[in-house]
Amino acid sequence: EKDGHDWFMRKEIFEQPRAVADSLLGRRSTSGLLQLDEMRLSDDEIRDIDKIIIIAAGTSFYAGMVAKYAIEHWTRIPVEVELSSEFRYRDPILDHSTLVVAISQSGETADTLQAIRHARSQRSKVLAICNTNGSTIPRESDAVIYTHAGPEIGVASTKGFLTQLVACYLLALYVAQVKGTRFGDEIEEVMSQLEAMPDHIATVLAGAEQVYDLARAHTGTRSVLFLGRHAGYPVALEGALKLKEIAYLHAEGFAAGELKHGPIALVEQGLPVLCVVPPRGRDQLHEKMISGIQEVRARGAQTICLAEEGDTRIEPYADVLIRLPKVPVLLQPLVAVVPLQLFACELATALGHDVDQPRNLAKSVTVE
Ligand code: F6R
Repeated sequence: EKDGHDWFMRKEIFEQPRAVADSLLGRRSTSGLLQLDEMRLSDDEIRDIDKIIIIAAGTSFYAGMVAKYAIEHWTRIPVEVELSSEFRYRDPILDHSTLVVAISQSGETADTLQAIRHARSQRSKVLAICNTNGSTIPRESDAVIYTHAGPEIGVASTKGFLTQLVACYLLALYVAQVKGTRFGDEIEEVMSQLEAMPDHIATVLAGAEQVYDLARAHTGTRSVLFLGRHAGYPVALEGALKLKEIAYLHAEGFAAGELKHGPIALVEQGLPVLCVVPPRGRDQLHEKMISGIQEVRARGAQTICLAEEGDTRIEPYADVLIRLPKVPVLLQPLVAVVPLQLFACELATALGHDVDQPRNLAKSVTVE
């Protein structure tokens, strides 16, 4: 049942190329237009949207943070991302032109369910991104995009997260298509880039041994930091969450630009810092990330850098270099999170923990 793997989590990490491919399947019509069958929102309703609020918990919340970058970039609709447990209590401004997007792998998370009930009581439309057919959250929503990860058994979410990202990209592109903020050829280009992702993820998985060796060298580590910028920032947060959940280590993710505003005081000799390096582009992101990495390294940190193939600029600053396939910055989370999942899984295994049933955690959290 685990396909020869020791844990469901590891099996599910290795299923990710398939899960991503399945979640992309059948989304393009013969005319090349993007179609989302179960969407149930009319073009008029979509054209009416002037604000999007994404609500989710845990790993699904980090998928929502990535979604904000993609939706705002492609559709120019302002997006807020909020923890579902906090949403109701701040008296959010909602009306019929607000689209609330609830992201939940299980479809049963109580905090998220209560949040969508509140949103609907304020006449907002709710769209669920969910992996579980017929679960409560999609049943109580106006529209749904199902992810096709297949059942996720490991308590720590992995393929659930990657397929949520895919659904978020599809939603962003679909809204852009309907609103006309992006044109057919650009949408097709991004779709082709998405369709190349399963192969890229497989490439990252083929390098698992390097990550496993790294993890096994860190069984004495008590604390790990993760740095990212832009779409890599939620990846850093997710890397830290995985390590807390299954390896029970103190781990924190930061936006690299925030380092100098406080967290850099944590850095001491030998502290491992995992850095998600953005692809080199026209903006300053890549250079700024490198200066952040230099700062922590100068203070004795061990820098473990995830950087795209061909990025030679990073080499002098990386104590360990993990290569990622060359992909656009918005899509990079789909490849960058994979080594972090492998790292957490292997480190937890080496520490002798039950990876599939971590202490104090349940697969779906049905209490508020
Ligand atoms: C992390 C994890 C949790 C869930 C969170 C939301 O590995 O599994 O943080 O992501 O409880 O669950 P869903 O997506 O089912 O609403």
